[in-house]
Amino acid sequence: MESTVAPVHLVVLGSTGSIGTQTLDVARAFPDRIRVVALAAGSNDALLEAQIREFRPERVALADPEAAHRLAARSGLAVASGPEGVRSVACHDPADVVITAMVGAAGLLPTMDAIALGRRIGLANKETMVVAGDLIREACARSGSEIIPVDSEHSAIYQCLVGEPQESVSRLILTASGGPFRERPVETFDAVTRQEALAHPNWDMGPKITVDSATMMNKGLEVIEARWLFDIPAERLAVVIHPQSIIHSMVEFVDGSSKAQLGPPDMRVPIQYAISAPARWPADHPRVDWREPMQLTFSEPDPLRYPCLALAWEALEQRGSSGAILNAANEAAVAHFLAGRIRFTRIPELIRGAMTELAGLPGGLLLERMQADSAARTWVDGRVGSPS
Ligand SMILES: NC(=O)c1ccc[n+]([C@@H]2O[C@H](COP(=O)([O-])OP(=O)(O)OC[C@H]3O[C@@H](n4cnc5c(N)ncnc54)[C@H](OP(=O)(O)O)[C@@H]3O)[C@@H](O)[C@H]2O)c1
Repeated sequence: MESTVAPVHLVVLGSTGSIGTQTLDVARAFPDRIRVVALAAGSNDALLEAQIREFRPERVALADPEAAHRLAARSGLAVASGPEGVRSVACHDPADVVITAMVGAAGLLPTMDAIALGRRIGLANKETMVVAGDLIREACARSGSEIIPVDSEHSAIYQCLVGEPQESVSRLILTASGGPFRERPVETFDAVTRQEALAHPNWDMGPKITVDSATMMNKGLEVIEARWLFDIPAERLAVVIHPQSIIHSMVEFVDGSSKAQLGPPDMRVPIQYAISAPARWPADHPRVDWREPMQLTFSEPDPLRYPCLALAWEALEQRGSSGAILNAANEAAVAHFLAGRIRFTRIPELIRGAMTELAGLPGGLLLERMQADSAARTWVDGRVGSPS
């Protein structure tokens, strides 16, 4: 069916990753409704080149200067490079929606840039909300920018909240699959290998978020993300384990009623909704087969199994720079785990250490959050470099 409305001008930050490539799947499915105008990635010049040939964006960037140089030399195209190059893509004009699908706190400044320009943000990069959710809310209020979450849990909550006044909401309940170690004996966690941590039962994601799902830091980051996205106090947020990943999250209302959003795990659904909302575009994404017997189970997360979740709640209570420290220490520790330098159980130990040692660093300003981020990475790197 041909659309008569003007196409959405779409920018994708992190176009070569799991969310980025699925965003381009959505763009591919709606050639009349979406025009891809700018793309940025980290270092995968080969995949970015293929994306440029297919979508013909007006502006592209690679954060890695060598990869940008390689691509420019090979293709004769203008390729912006480094963090500034990525920011120029975030600021590309004209643009309607910016999907922030890059991994880690590196997404903070480009996201802030796009917000300052009043763009709609399709937010996948949850780390930015963890570092600066309060400042991002203020920036959105100033520019009129709206954030539509891409994370399936937050998209579910966003969808459940449509048409509901804020005072009707009692609690937001985030579901968590429990990751690959939901049933593994905790005493064996020291021996978890990189390969085991990267084998998520329900979702196919980038390596950092997959390890975050195994430690459940991912859910911790999502709790903080929900706090700021939906402007709800921490005590009205809850996490439940739901291994089937069919209910993506729930909202409980003051009258005792609850709403949930359901569907087979497929990130293209929330990505598409972040672009089309409040409209829904017809798509052949998998459906729940309601004729099939199905079990939906729920339980409380075990704090001994998932110590990272408690660390995130602590960071949320402490405010200031604590989100930046939590997030940066986690990014650094996960990178060391993936590089084979530390065991799995060192991840929460290092995050706790950084949070204790660096507690009280100033965090009122964005610059102070970035300084806290860098102090936490240095602290973790220093500990990994010395005997534990
Ligand atoms: N995957 C999921 O299902 C999922 C679900 C919900 C939320 N998220 C969130 O979405 C974000 C991306 O996750 P992912 O799984 O898609 O990660 P991923 O597969 O590792 O992809 C990360 C993307 O970021 C790019 N990148 C890395 N550093 C960059 C930099 N400095 N500047 C610009 N781009 C950079 C990478 O480029 P290169 O590959 O070219 O280096 C890649 O395109 C994360 O914040 C994650 O928590 C993911």
